[in-house]
Amino acid sequence: MSTKKNADTYILPDHKAEAARSKEQIEAEYGLFQLNNAMETLGKDRKFYIRTYGCQANVRDGETIAGMMEQMGFTETQDTEEADVLIFNTCAVRKAAEDHVFGEIGMLKGLKDKKPDTIFCICGCMAQEESVINTILKKYPQVDLVFGTHNLYRLPDLLSQVMKTRKRKIEVFSEQGRVIEDLPVKRSQKFKGFVDIMYGCNKFCTYCIVPYTRGKERSRRMGDIVREIKQLKENGGREVVLLGQNVNAYGKDLGMEDGFTDLLIAAARTGIERIRFYSSSPRDYSETTIQAMIDYSSIMPALHLPVQSGSDEVLRRMARGYTVEEYKKLFDRLKQMIPSITFTTDLIVGFPGETDAQFRETLDLVDYCKFDSAFSFKYSPREGTPAAAMPDQIPDEVKDARLQELNDHLNHWAKENNKAYLHKIVRVLCEGPSRKNAAVYSGYSEENKLVNFTGPEGLTGQIVDVEITEVRSFSLNGRAL
Ligand code: SAH
Ligand code: SF4
Ligand code: F3S
Repeated sequence: MSTKKNADTYILPDHKAEAARSKEQIEAEYGLFQLNNAMETLGKDRKFYIRTYGCQANVRDGETIAGMMEQMGFTETQDTEEADVLIFNTCAVRKAAEDHVFGEIGMLKGLKDKKPDTIFCICGCMAQEESVINTILKKYPQVDLVFGTHNLYRLPDLLSQVMKTRKRKIEVFSEQGRVIEDLPVKRSQKFKGFVDIMYGCNKFCTYCIVPYTRGKERSRRMGDIVREIKQLKENGGREVVLLGQNVNAYGKDLGMEDGFTDLLIAAARTGIERIRFYSSSPRDYSETTIQAMIDYSSIMPALHLPVQSGSDEVLRRMARGYTVEEYKKLFDRLKQMIPSITFTTDLIVGFPGETDAQFRETLDLVDYCKFDSAFSFKYSPREGTPAAAMPDQIPDEVKDARLQELNDHLNHWAKENNKAYLHKIVRVLCEGPSRKNAAVYSGYSEENKLVNFTGPEGLTGQIVDVEITEVRSFSLNGRAL
């Protein structure tokens, strides 16, 4: 098959006028985010600290929150001691994540004794849970403000109310509203940016709380997304990561037939050098999406394709909507069409009723797919989800042992896959000095491998050819050519 078959002839839905709208037009249309004079000076000589947990959607929300705080005149600090406002942007996906947040808020309680005006805010997915709100009301008097995932844009107003009245405020919307555009953003990285393409999830996998905390699927309009990618690029961005809980469903709620493919092509046509997306669903993968990945070299050959389990019976009870055979077929097809592609995945062990034999089927699938890396989790019952009420919950010791065995397989393949890169040349977007050692750079290759490398000064922000000289399980080392 020709690799340039559709690239130039593909006709996109008309989004150009939408993408070219002026700030005034957008404000007139959406008009929901406005700061009044009082809010604009609220943060003068004050600092905020934000701690974000969870997935990239939350990270992107954290960037919006930081953007709003800076517009109000606050400056960001990494030091909890000197913060006037502490914001905990939380995740509810597993109980451990929730316990961690409560532990942290408990530990920081003393800050209020030293500086009673310090304000504690909780937002993010935990804020959408009724049980969490009740716990905060009962046990955490230090929390002053709670807002949810559907009303981020209300932060300036809510915070000014709390600062003025010194009264605790809880405002959480149970229903998602319309998509709010043009909120401020403080991007955490200059060269790589997250762009939400849709919010929420309609899949209701039986273990998962996300559809309850994030609401129904709502896609942003293509023009709005394209405009954000162009802005990112104008500000020095070279890579965009398109975000959604299930990006393949993009545009369905807007009546688009093949919305995700259209969007990928529109993103590629902005000329941004690298495009990634996160996460894909194995059940909605269209052939045209695969073709777009072939047609546009800026769409990176690295796919996060969560499988969760290697057992048909477990997948059925998880309501994932595909079988192991279907997953393998899609996996093989992608590999055949895009030979350099790498795969990462998410896996859950100890789902209710998972037998040892079913767990072994997961190991078999891991050995078949030889994933480059994976997030592996012990099943965590989430109140209100169907799986939490299923019989045969698995004891924690069994989950621990399974997770250990699974991780042994995953680590083995991570290292094996990396071995193939020795002495090869990879193209890396240099993000700057490595966190661990300022004398080396770090960045990600097209295949999304973490690469630490040496090279001359001035490579930050460049896309660099790197020769790999040493391989580890979770990173590659090399030198810039
Ligand atoms: N929308 C993404 C996943 C978001 S949650 C997708 O479907 O691909 C990220 C991961 O957390 C999931 O893929 C799953 O592996 C894990 N997860 C979700 N709920 C969980 C639970 N109750 N216990 C353990 N892991 C869970
Ligand atoms: Fe959760 Fe499933 Fe939606 Fe992913 S697709 S967010 S796992 S319900
Ligand atoms: Fe966590 Fe919410 Fe993301 S529950 S994984 S932060 S959507």
